[in-house]
Amino acid sequence: MIYKNIPLKKYNTFGLDCFAECMIRIKTEKEAISLFNGTVSWKKPLLILGSGSNLLFTSDFKGTVLYPEITRIKIEEQEPDNRNVIISAGAGVNWDDFVAWSVNKGLGGIENLSLIPGKVGATPVQNIGAYGVEVRDRIVKVRTINISDGSIRVFNNSECEFGYRDSIFKNREKGKYLVTRVYYRLTINPLLNLSYETLKEEVNKLGAETLINARQGVINIRQRKLPDPEIIGNAGSFFKNPVVESSFALSLKNEYPDIPIYKDHEGYMKLASGWLIERCGWKGQRRGDAGVHDKQALVLINYGKATGKEIYNLSEEIRKSVHEKFGVDLEREVETVGII
Ligand code: EPU
Repeated sequence: MIYKNIPLKKYNTFGLDCFAECMIRIKTEKEAISLFNGTVSWKKPLLILGSGSNLLFTSDFKGTVLYPEITRIKIEEQEPDNRNVIISAGAGVNWDDFVAWSVNKGLGGIENLSLIPGKVGATPVQNIGAYGVEVRDRIVKVRTINISDGSIRVFNNSECEFGYRDSIFKNREKGKYLVTRVYYRLTINPLLNLSYETLKEEVNKLGAETLINARQGVINIRQRKLPDPEIIGNAGSFFKNPVVESSFALSLKNEYPDIPIYKDHEGYMKLASGWLIERCGWKGQRRGDAGVHDKQALVLINYGKATGKEIYNLSEEIRKSVHEKFGVDLEREVETVGII
């Protein structure tokens, strides 16, 4: 079914008031195949939308928005060593519902990714991560449909070319595949990852170091720092944390002893964009209804009536001042859709 002139306000977590020329909702893989093998015609370009938690619409979308509603969580197989189990989830399953489901079943591995807004289908695209865990550590394979001909292609973990908030689906194969189902390896007697100090402290406040407390700890920290998109429009971290040469990171540390720096791959270190932005004086600032969150400077927010362009312009101002003060170029994590 093709719907016309659809308001996108409730389809993007920034709550931006814009429209899609067409929208198609699909509930099964079969429907998706008939869409791409030529059986059904639709207006290009195509935008695949999960819950719009990483998107900034800067204008109306002149094309077709595809909204996958493929659901169902399936227990696929228990691995022979009896330590892990493979679980698959449809692209349209709400991510946090899936995390809650796994924690309630006593299955570990994704509890640190609790409360991240979005759908299962977006998790491999963005390689979501938080509190020392990235979803690539758990993804076994990703089932997709090729948009150009409707054929099925399964990507194993290494074929996904995962990187920090990055994958083949954002790069070389951008816009070419629709994710329909993701397979995760979860652990039956999980070892918690409490390497992130704040999380360890939070879990200890709750009592024992259990799976349920790990999830609750993450929820508590996120709720303290990150605005709930149901209440105030935002898309989580707006920028990535920059990875820079270690020598440069160390020279910044010399100049600013309290700057947080983290080891990354050989010869490189990661900086905290939130810290850099706060140090440029942006925390809690507003430009009309576009603003910088007062508890976490990495999060840009829509106080109500901001347009995507206003948020974009604010992000450009921030990039400019961080560049001028620290010589660091911030890269947007959020994807911009539309005319700038
Ligand atoms: N910081 C500041 N001021 C701020 C924000 C942060 O000084 O306004 C400092 C903190 O004090 C800390 C450091 O920056 O020393 C890092 O902050 P935090 O632990 O809050 O994490 P982050 O780097 O801001 C990243 C992810 C988040 C993820 C958290 C926890 C990115 C772009 N963001 O944020 O992911 O939840 O770590 O693991 O990697 C997201 O991608 O949407 C997201 C929310």
